[in-house]
Amino acid sequence: MKNIKYKTRKICCIGAGYVGGPTMAVIASHCKNISVNVVDINEKRINSWNSHSLDNLPIYEPGLKEVIKKTRNINLFFSTDIKNAISKSDMVFISVNTPTKLKGFGAGYASDLKWVEESARQVAKYSKGHTIVIEKSTLPVKTAELIKTILEAQSENKHSKGTKKSFSVLSNPEFLSEGNAIDDLENPDRVLIGGDDEYSINELEQIYRTWISKNKILRTNLWSSELSKLSANAFLAQRISSINSISAICEKTGADIKEVSKAIGLDKRIGNRFLSAGPGFGGSCFKKDILNLVYLCRYYGLKEVSDYWEQVVLLNNWQRNRISSLVVKKLFGTVSLKKIAILGFAFKANTNDVREAAAINITKDLIENGAKLLIHDPKVNSEQIETAIDLKCSDDIDNSNQGSWIFQEDFNKLFFEIDAVLVLTEWNDYKSIRWDIYSKNMRKPAWVFDTRNIIDKEKVISSGLNYWGLGDGNNFEN
Ligand code: NAD
Ligand code: UGA
Repeated sequence: MKNIKYKTRKICCIGAGYVGGPTMAVIASHCKNISVNVVDINEKRINSWNSHSLDNLPIYEPGLKEVIKKTRNINLFFSTDIKNAISKSDMVFISVNTPTKLKGFGAGYASDLKWVEESARQVAKYSKGHTIVIEKSTLPVKTAELIKTILEAQSENKHSKGTKKSFSVLSNPEFLSEGNAIDDLENPDRVLIGGDDEYSINELEQIYRTWISKNKILRTNLWSSELSKLSANAFLAQRISSINSISAICEKTGADIKEVSKAIGLDKRIGNRFLSAGPGFGGSCFKKDILNLVYLCRYYGLKEVSDYWEQVVLLNNWQRNRISSLVVKKLFGTVSLKKIAILGFAFKANTNDVREAAAINITKDLIENGAKLLIHDPKVNSEQIETAIDLKCSDDIDNSNQGSWIFQEDFNKLFFEIDAVLVLTEWNDYKSIRWDIYSKNMRKPAWVFDTRNIIDKEKVISSGLNYWGLGDGNNFEN
């Protein structure tokens, strides 16, 4: 272990979700002398984090089990005892959900900060002595002001031992992406720390310095840090909408999106990452963070700027819609009572997260049009799909006379009498499907629709199937 230059001995993280769990596990694995307590109001989630079998952790992330195995109940603890965890900590991370507001002022755009506010109140109430409070959640610019105001209202109060409470607030946004979280945490492109209190910034920096080099740690003011997180997500999402818009032109003109992506990505100024066309970005953050940015711009009277960013989301919605309507069109204008296998429901590969997955809108559209769907995903379960599309899994899809769906775990039972396969998530399992074998079970003329460009087109065609690939100007009909 490197020379320890921080005084922090106890950390609390409020929120044991996709960010809180993995981030704290990685901190605990590198800082053995710090006790890390991750707390949540969701008892079921905490129980899963504590479950004996590491296969029952609440989230799936490659490499997560291994990190949990070497830290849990050694210096990493999961519990619902928020009061106790806050009161003994020198540093508290707020890593709670910040979804888009569903009602009231700013509904549909602004972030709902009620969980952040509640967390700040809990810190204000239960902390003792000096506490460094860190925004880990993605937040609108100036949220630190709200947190400071709540904390300062308490700083005059004394805790039980008679010492004054004091706080400093830092912004330390998280840039991990799901499915790659552990690697992103171990080898981040940068760690951003926003704040104005030198002591607290040093403390946090020294924790990260345990495994991250100094040149990757960037100090900014609070507002730059908050805005950088929103901007980074907006820029990433903008690239996806840009390439998706080009995929539609490819289909009209005979160009191939894979070739175009490669050609433009070779320009060093553009770079080759985040240029894969797909069914539209999903995940819990891109849409909500852009809408939040749009809201901020409107609030500050920047109409043209807000319209510019909103278009990224509108294009994304359009991309999803055009996929479901294309499937209907190719299947002779109706999918009523036709069986379609859906390959992948997660919003991307290597995660069990379905939040804002393109599959939600697309499957709902198809079911509404009367299709019978057999949904497969290696990590998502039936209950998640039921909640996401707000429709119960069918007991007997064969005898159902309306749009319905079942979860089909068994790959070998997926292809019987189906009219089409629709690939929505780029799971590795789907890359080497034996089309020559499965095509025999499908009802002809049958289609393979590949929205991720992972399927071997030649093998599909030589198995007697029709092929449609996103952004492929030479789509093939037998
Ligand atoms: P999540 O919904 O998975 O987890 C949040 C957790 O906070 C929930 O388990 C919830 O029960 C808990 N919580 C809410 N209020 C609480 C309270 N008062 N006390 C204790 N627990 C409370 O969310 P997430 O995906 O981990 O995201 C958290 C934040 O991080 C969001 O702001 C998000 O935008 C941001 N973020 C997410 C990702 C990602 O990949 N998911 C990446 C970077 C940043
Ligand atoms: C994204 C960012 O990449 C993270 O840096 C950020 O921390 C995080 O949001 C967040 O703030 O929540 P994540 O949503 O987990 O991470 O996953 P991404 O890899 O960014 O993918 C988002 C969506 O875009 C997925 O649906 C994915 O399939 C799609 N995508 C991604 C494409 O369609 N094409 C691409 O080339 C890349």
